[in-house]
Amino acid sequence: MTKSSGDKSEKEPWRGCYYTLEEVQKHNHSQSTWIIIHRRIYDLSKFLEEHPGGEEVLREQAGGDATESFEDVGHSTDARTLSESFIIGELHPDDWGKVDKPTGTYITTVDSSASSWSNWVIPAVAAIIVALMYRFYMSE
Ligand code: HEM
Repeated sequence: MTKSSGDKSEKEPWRGCYYTLEEVQKHNHSQSTWIIIHRRIYDLSKFLEEHPGGEEVLREQAGGDATESFEDVGHSTDARTLSESFIIGELHPDDWGKVDKPTGTYITTVDSSASSWSNWVIPAVAAIIVALMYRFYMSE
């Protein structure tokens, strides 16, 4: 962890406490569970059992970037305010590029590949049936 001087805010003492992605990745177990949300580092070790969404979802994100999963859930304002109390630092700017792009390993409640597939297949089949019926009636 590196701390830049002259950057200490009383409200947000974690400002300027930089951790590298490599450091965060070491905290991927139940004794020490860190996650990254919007380039901020959260230590959720003591919150796992209290999380209303269950500890499993947090464990799955341990040591990595959970921004997309966190936003997908649509957490309430209360949840966001609560989350601030777990911030211990910020992701080192050198590693920002490594977490900005979705890795495809995020947990979603719905299988997104299956849902996007059925999203276009059902309307396409319906359109073909309508076209066939139209031709059938017009030919009579
Ligand atoms: C700092 C981190 C987090 C805090 C403080 C937090 C807090 C909360 C709270 C208070 C709720 C209750 C509903 C609400 O008020 O929105 C909740 C629900 C939930 N959270 Fe989190 N959460 C955190 C991170 C995450 C992450 C990273 C994930 C996903 C991997 C997640 C997944 C869920 C799910 C699935 C629910 C249940 C939603 C439902 O039942 O509708 N949470 N969380």
